Amino acid sequence: MRIIRRRGWEIPESQVTPESVVLNRRALIGGTAALLAAAPGLVHADPNPKYEAGRALTEEKYSTTYNNYYEFSESKNLWKEAQGLKTSPWTIEFAGLVKEPRKIAYEDLLKQVSLEERIYRHRCVEAWAMTVPWTGFPMTDLLKLAEPLGSAKFVAFETVKDKSMSGLRAPLYPWPYVDGLAIDEAANELAFMTTGMYGKPLPPQNGGPIRMTTPWKYGFKQVKSVVKVTFTEKQPRCFWQEINGREYGFWANVNPDVEHPRWSQARERLLGTGEMVPTQIYNGYGDIVASLYSDRKSEKLFM
Ligand code: MTE
Repeated sequence: MRIIRRRGWEIPESQVTPESVVLNRRALIGGTAALLAAAPGLVHADPNPKYEAGRALTEEKYSTTYNNYYEFSESKNLWKEAQGLKTSPWTIEFAGLVKEPRKIAYEDLLKQVSLEERIYRHRCVEAWAMTVPWTGFPMTDLLKLAEPLGSAKFVAFETVKDKSMSGLRAPLYPWPYVDGLAIDEAANELAFMTTGMYGKPLPPQNGGPIRMTTPWKYGFKQVKSVVKVTFTEKQPRCFWQEINGREYGFWANVNPDVEHPRWSQARERLLGTGEMVPTQIYNGYGDIVASLYSDRKSEKLFM
């Protein structure tokens, strides 16, 4: 697989990870090289040193066992149950305002994109955070494949509904889980379609085989196990907005100065260490994304 584009967020793991963790991971990856080479949706590369994450990578054992995936459970401890989701074969549908509505097999999609690794901070609205090396491809490549019409102003991502998901029986939730972006947000260079983490295929509990990742927004915008991508003229309905529009809005950009109605967003707890650190506006990615909002000042941008 080709590695393309070197941007600011691509830093060597040695800059963000305790050395022992890097060495352990290298040993692990070396030992399973054949398996990894054969697995789809995967690359493990040393990214370029341009961007300082400013914190250590979260150890994999924490980011893969403390999850939000309400289709399985409202508990954070759902990773075992999530193994019941069969992530292959997998199909993604392009719908709505596109040149031609169609379905594409995940394997075929992967043949048409170039995978790369990016280390991003992740900030959940619940005030916990992690730093993860994701594998995937720029969301703009997905837009090119989907061929939206000029009239499309928004894009919505939808999670699979599967019999393995016992949480779907909770009747009060408006399944399927859907969230969306404005087209220019989706085309921003930070927006990413994620197919792996820590150099391995994305596990089901983290949204395998493919999720979207927008690190300047709260984590609930980041739709897991995507099966449908719909282009619309109007803002799409979003899962959390529909459940509680007073607390969760469409834009949901990270801002330490805008409190959640029930708690402060000023600080965040790092998964694994429990350390509390200050939250940054746009989760620290303002230099790349703030310009998206200069003409949207009248909108409720921060929750
Ligand atoms: N996607 C689906 N389908 N269902 C969910 O419950 N939770 C969101 C987001 N995507 C969620 C989802 C929330 S609130 C967060 S913080 C992240 O997933 C958590 O991602 P992680 O479990 O990989 O850390």
